[in-house]
Amino acid sequence: MTIPATMRIVEAAHPGGPEVLRPGTAPVPTAKADEVLIRVQVAGVNRPDVAQRTGAYPPPPGASPLIGLEVAGEVVAIGAAVRTYNIGDRVCALTNGGGYAEYCAAPEAQTLPWPKGYDALRAGALPETFFTVWANLFMSGRLTAGERVLIHGGTSGIGVTAIQLAVAFGATAYATAGSDHKVAACLKLGAAGAINYRSQDFGDEIKALTDGRGVDVVLDMVGAAYFPRNIRALAIDGRLVLIAFLGGAKFDGMDLTPIMTRRLTVTGSTMRPRTTAQKGAIAAELSSKVWPLLDQGRCAPVIHATFPLAEAAQAHALMESSTHIGKIMLTVAD
Ligand SMILES: NC(=O)c1ccc[n+]([C@@H]2O[C@H](COP(=O)([O-])OP(=O)(O)OC[C@H]3O[C@@H](n4cnc5c(N)ncnc54)[C@H](OP(=O)(O)O)[C@@H]3O)[C@@H](O)[C@H]2O)c1
Repeated sequence: MTIPATMRIVEAAHPGGPEVLRPGTAPVPTAKADEVLIRVQVAGVNRPDVAQRTGAYPPPPGASPLIGLEVAGEVVAIGAAVRTYNIGDRVCALTNGGGYAEYCAAPEAQTLPWPKGYDALRAGALPETFFTVWANLFMSGRLTAGERVLIHGGTSGIGVTAIQLAVAFGATAYATAGSDHKVAACLKLGAAGAINYRSQDFGDEIKALTDGRGVDVVLDMVGAAYFPRNIRALAIDGRLVLIAFLGGAKFDGMDLTPIMTRRLTVTGSTMRPRTTAQKGAIAAELSSKVWPLLDQGRCAPVIHATFPLAEAAQAHALMESSTHIGKIMLTVAD
């Protein structure tokens, strides 16, 4: 196919609310030596996109200034060093930015094939949450079969993937969510227990659900507001993994003694600033350990809503309403 010189995009001309997202045009990117150029069929919407739109999460140096961290589509050009993919292959990719566009370049190392039987919509819903959950719950959090895990934001894009993967790998998952409807969704996804944090204290509830023992891992996106209760929820040798601070990042006045006496680990990470090699190492584990589960239908993305690219503002407004369960997606082309 002929690759055009320019493409349709959606961009935030300046920081602000969802309404700053406007259609525009930009030059089609070229694939660097280690990259594939993807004709984007679908792009995923993620909470970090909202943070970038408001100006709170600027792209790292060298990354596309455009919003959009995951895409699925067709490879239309390959860099000189690319070995795995050929033109015409259907792929999904964790991008370094630039997903809200008709074409997006992504490192080969961050690109994976569509699982068996998948279309662009379902494939495009995978990269951001599967890379993040694998890196944090399994690599940093060292979750193993037979362990117990508490997943906050159980119906977020991240939470839905975390519950499913925890269960698929033999762990017992518990989750928190902000309504009874969302609690029911967590249970349907395989959680052994789910807590409506608006009507119940998750610190007390998780102790009751685990016969006072606590959990081995907590995956948290709330931060300061949950910190003392997260520490209390952990069993001996427990691990707290922080991936966002929706409830604040600063906390003082806490007794740190349990971290020492119960041998706890407190860690966290962000995905976007990692190197291509680091993201590639996560992709390699996903390819060998998780893609077979997707191929077999043992876990699957949950798609809440789909909007055309030009309606990205409505997609962001929906995400900020926090009424969704699972993923919000943008369709770009057939
Ligand atoms: N560190 C990383 O590498 C990384 C990568 C990707 C995403 N993230 C972070 O992970 C989080 C989830 O991302 P996502 O794309 O899956 O977002 P999402 O689908 O929009 O989910 C966020 C959920 O968090 C809950 N929430 C919002 N404010 C809250 C608060 N103050 N207290 C408790 N819960 C709150 C909401 O559900 P309720 O109705 O249940 O409150 C909401 O649905 C985001 O914070 C994102 O920035 C981190």
